[in-house]
Amino acid sequence: MSNEEQIAYWNGDAGRKWAEKDHMMAAMLGPIARALLDHCDPAGATRVLDVGCGGGSETLMLADRLGAGARVLGIDVSAPLLAVAQQRLADAGELPVAVDFLQADASEHAFEPGAWDFLFSRFGVMFFDDPVGAFRNLRAALAPGGRMAFCCWQRLQDNPWVAVPLKAALEHLPPPPAPDPHAPGPFAFADRERLAGILEAAGFGDVTIEHRDVTMGWGSGGDLARTTREMLNIGPVGRLLAEEDDAVRQLVYDSAAEALAPHFADGRISLPGATWFVTAGNG
Ligand SMILES: C[S@@+](CC[C@H](N)C(=O)[O-])C[C@H]1O[C@@H](n2cnc3c(N)ncnc32)[C@H](O)[C@@H]1O
Repeated sequence: MSNEEQIAYWNGDAGRKWAEKDHMMAAMLGPIARALLDHCDPAGATRVLDVGCGGGSETLMLADRLGAGARVLGIDVSAPLLAVAQQRLADAGELPVAVDFLQADASEHAFEPGAWDFLFSRFGVMFFDDPVGAFRNLRAALAPGGRMAFCCWQRLQDNPWVAVPLKAALEHLPPPPAPDPHAPGPFAFADRERLAGILEAAGFGDVTIEHRDVTMGWGSGGDLARTTREMLNIGPVGRLLAEEDDAVRQLVYDSAAEALAPHFADGRISLPGATWFVTAGNG
């Protein structure tokens, strides 16, 4: 997908579905944001960018780690997700840190050069069609000596939270064309060497890329069938199902529920995932 197609995607059905489920997603992804914040420790930063901030749950978590007087800007292309972020900010009441949200494409937004001292992202930087150009643009926004930390997914086959439902879905769907492993999307940065090369080509130094196992726990109190539908409507299987009719969807939901049953307990489907925790410095 080109950047324009990504922007349309995150402003269309997919963005709206994510926005509807954002509270569940925030609960599921909360431990990953906390682990990443522990890993990178932004405490000394005063001007922080959250790239691809989505519904803003981690933007507020980030703000909570900063000292009074700091500023955080969440940037995202998705209007439905930014509406959730604005509501979340309003619900948080008065904060000691200034938090704002901006609807813009982080890969080419004209940031004030050197105005930020920390860039953060939870799964929001894998969607650029020109990753080196996008990271160059982000680095230009960083002050000399500024730092960046983000997490991204390893390969699809190392992420059973996608691989298990996808295998069940493909029993009923035409085989998709062989995926380009580097195409913009959730798994674009799975290849560690390539990712390091992209960041270095964009001028970042001191790059670290560490393996982190995570648990993805889907569920908002429903039974297996409902939880399976919630899980399948977001993410890579959701992308495939978007074009299908109700009959095919039902077949997919039934097969996926069967495959996911061993992982369902207490209203939640829990499956493992593998991420990279990435840090880098400006220069
Ligand atoms: C997988 S979601 C992660 C959202 C959020 N960080 C979270 O963890 O809940 C990816 C986000 O990146 C955003 N995004 C994709 N391309 C972008 C771009 N070029 N500039 C800014 N945001 C982008 C999407 O709109 C979406 O909100």
